[in-house]
Amino acid sequence: MAFLRRKPPLSLLLLLLLTSPAHSLTCSSQNLSNNLYTNCTDLPTLNSSLHWTHVAKTSSLSIAFVAPPSKPDGWIAWGINPTGTGMAGSQALVAFKDSNGSMTVKTYDVVSYSSLVEGEISFEVSDSRAEFSDGSMKIFATVKLPETMTEVNHVWQVGGAVKDGAPVKHEFQPENLNAKGKLKLKLTEKAQSNRTTAAGSPAIAPNPSSSSGSRNGVMYVILMLIIGALISN
Ligand SMILES: *[C@@H]1O[C@H](CO)[C@@H](O)[C@H](O)[C@H]1NC(C)=O
Ligand SMILES: *[C@@H]1O[C@H](CO)[C@@H](O)[C@H](O)[C@H]1NC(C)=O
Ligand SMILES: *[C@@H]1O[C@H](CO)[C@@H](O)[C@H](O)[C@H]1NC(C)=O
Ligand SMILES: *[C@@H]1O[C@H](CO)[C@@H](O)[C@H](O)[C@H]1NC(C)=O
Ligand SMILES: *[C@@H]1O[C@H](CO)[C@@H](O)[C@H](O)[C@H]1NC(C)=O
Repeated sequence: MAFLRRKPPLSLLLLLLLTSPAHSLTCSSQNLSNNLYTNCTDLPTLNSSLHWTHVAKTSSLSIAFVAPPSKPDGWIAWGINPTGTGMAGSQALVAFKDSNGSMTVKTYDVVSYSSLVEGEISFEVSDSRAEFSDGSMKIFATVKLPETMTEVNHVWQVGGAVKDGAPVKHEFQPENLNAKGKLKLKLTEKAQSNRTTAAGSPAIAPNPSSSSGSRNGVMYVILMLIIGALISN
């Protein structure tokens, strides 16, 4: 009986261990076009990420948006909303498999949830193309932004089907509905401010390995708990 009672915690721990690295599509695991992009942001929903480079001088934003479509014959989309924060009003790039089987990128004015208008959008888009490999689609493009823009409201989405050359409505799960955010193209004044000390020597940069260090610490504790549970069995 004691043996039976000890079992659940062990399997629970194992389950935690096996399911915790949920995101397979993180910035760190991707190797895009020989690191062509200066920045990468893991997006909070839909297992997606955005690689990007912002060139302030030309106010252009080059992006690679990566996400798994909800079905292989589906689509992925990324867009900027110049007038609000949600899906409605966004100017979107949508990638899917064309009728001849090759990946294509189309631009849409997302007027509302029920009205997509294919055609020119309010941003100039160049060099757009799409890829599909290992279950993920990628949208590559360069977007010309208004000169003073230092952050953009962006949206992203995935869907499971394409009909008559157009994406079919996506699901309305929390992950879909929360697929929006603010992309800061520049760090704030504060972060960029002159960090020289009174003596004139540069301040010490934050230790980049500290987060992986604490992660290792967590893994160590979990392993020790498992070993402990095994021994007590
Ligand atoms: C990323 O690309 C580099 C150079 O092409 C290669 O050496 C490295 O193994 C790749 N890493 C991953 C995780 O694919
Ligand atoms: C994200 O990835 C996890 C683990 O691979 C999976 O369980 C989950 O369903 C994925 N979510 C979406 C929206 O694809
Ligand atoms: C598929 O059609 C597009 C135009 O709709 C064309 O640009 C592309 O080259 C075609 N791909 C193949 C593999 O035929
Ligand atoms: C983007 O990357 C560059 C180069 O690594 C860095 O200097 C800059 O602060 C990053 N921008 C943001 C907003 O994280
Ligand atoms: C930073 O501070 C130093 C010393 O006060 C000054 O010489 C330098 O011009 C400052 N740099 C910037 C970018 O403000």
